[in-house]
Amino acid sequence: KGKRAFIAGVADDNGYGWAIAKSLAAAGAEILVGTWVPALNIFESSLRRGKFDESRKLQDGSLMEIAKVYPLDAVYDNPEDVPEDVKANKRYAGATNWTVQEVAESVKKDFGTIDILVHSLANGPEVSKPLSETSRKGYLAALSASSYSYISLLKHFLPIMNQDGSAISLTYIASERIIPGYGGGMSSAKAALESDTRVLAFEAGRKKRIRVNTISAGPLGSRAAKAIGFIDMMIDYSFTNAPLQKELHAEEVGNTAAFLSSPLASAITGSVIYVDNGLNAMGVGV
Ligand code: NAI
Repeated sequence: KGKRAFIAGVADDNGYGWAIAKSLAAAGAEILVGTWVPALNIFESSLRRGKFDESRKLQDGSLMEIAKVYPLDAVYDNPEDVPEDVKANKRYAGATNWTVQEVAESVKKDFGTIDILVHSLANGPEVSKPLSETSRKGYLAALSASSYSYISLLKHFLPIMNQDGSAISLTYIASERIIPGYGGGMSSAKAALESDTRVLAFEAGRKKRIRVNTISAGPLGSRAAKAIGFIDMMIDYSFTNAPLQKELHAEEVGNTAAFLSSPLASAITGSVIYVDNGLNAMGVGV
């Protein structure tokens, strides 16, 4: 029986979310995505106009189908949370039902259940500021968009997740090692995400035998990463210093997500899985 996946955080064909969608589609899953509201129009029109057709191609030559694109802003749990200025914002006015609770309700109405939940989103408005210069507001915003958003998604989707399902998020080694430049509380947000992965694995495991894991991915020149500003340097650093001196392909992260969501990984939960050409294992740069 085919599985159904909801992937939050897909707004173009460059990021990890897109690659995970492709690997899951190649493995036979039905794909639903959640797209950040301000990015929705351009993503949907690009899809419609065939701009992503080349990157929709799967190994067997067929094109990945996205069964439905849902507008989503994972910073808001329900309509009562949405401030007036956001409601009135032109980039939000055209879309409806995009809070986490409403998206889960819409998916339930449209499809009934899902088997796989993927969180591939992060945002830290002060990411370019060192942690010691980060404002309280910026720090909490990073945690809200990058960590609590996962708790909220799991909380609202758990009731419609089938037994033995899988939940996956994306993390970064800045949670446990010093990566200057990954500021604004983003390192803290990833540390929270990894800790929450363990606690959520326990809670979702006991409730529905759902497995909860996070992939600690190496550097990729996605839209979000380019906004941070040091991604080319991190890619070069990895190429020079990692045990495997090769480019890291988003597909390699996608394939790991597909493995973790499959019965092949039926005893893996609460884990941080590194997909980084082994860079995490190095103690010094060489
Ligand atoms: P991306 O730009 O493809 O994905 C981030 C997505 O988050 C975007 O589509 C953006 O629209 C969405 N987003 C931001 N705020 C949102 C909100 N409030 N509600 C809903 N969606 C929102 O970039 P990337 O790099 O593929 O990021 C995916 C995940 O991978 C993130 O968790 C990131 O921290 C993680 N990661 C990325 C690495 C990299 O080098 N690119 C390395 C390790 C982890």
